[in-house]
Amino acid sequence: MIAVLVLNGPNLGRLGSREPDVYGTVDFEGLTETCRATGRTLGLHVDVRQTDDEAELIGWVHEACDEATPVVLNPAAFTHYSYALRDALAMRTAPLVEVHISNPAARESFRHNSVVAGVADGTIAGFGLLSYQLALQAVAELCAVAGAGG
Ligand code: DQA
Repeated sequence: MIAVLVLNGPNLGRLGSREPDVYGTVDFEGLTETCRATGRTLGLHVDVRQTDDEAELIGWVHEACDEATPVVLNPAAFTHYSYALRDALAMRTAPLVEVHISNPAARESFRHNSVVAGVADGTIAGFGLLSYQLALQAVAELCAVAGAGG
């Protein structure tokens, strides 16, 4: 099984009660279960983490870089301004898919720019929890292509 990290930034631990009209009613535990179950169907071992701390998130990205672990990342608000996170992600050694529950392009203008998108393989946004499932599918495909020799 391929190990995949699903990393989540600030305030995503509050899913379920956080602006349910925007982010839905499923809590973080539900998100974790969905990701693990999706991973099982794709042959991926999925480790889901969340932090409100930029340094901790960057530490997890370093770990992924060192171990060539693919990452699905919802950087939350860090998406829009964390150059430190972007610089860490630029060192990646395995696939990286950026995800968002909502569609930032359809929201406030400060959400329209992602400083992370340019160092990711791609971005999936606007599909609720399905964004994560699609991202895991993309990771599985990218790993299969890489395993087949590119
Ligand atoms: C988010 C979108 C971001 O703009 C916001 O700051 C979040 C969540 C999303 O998943 O839709 O915290 O990344």
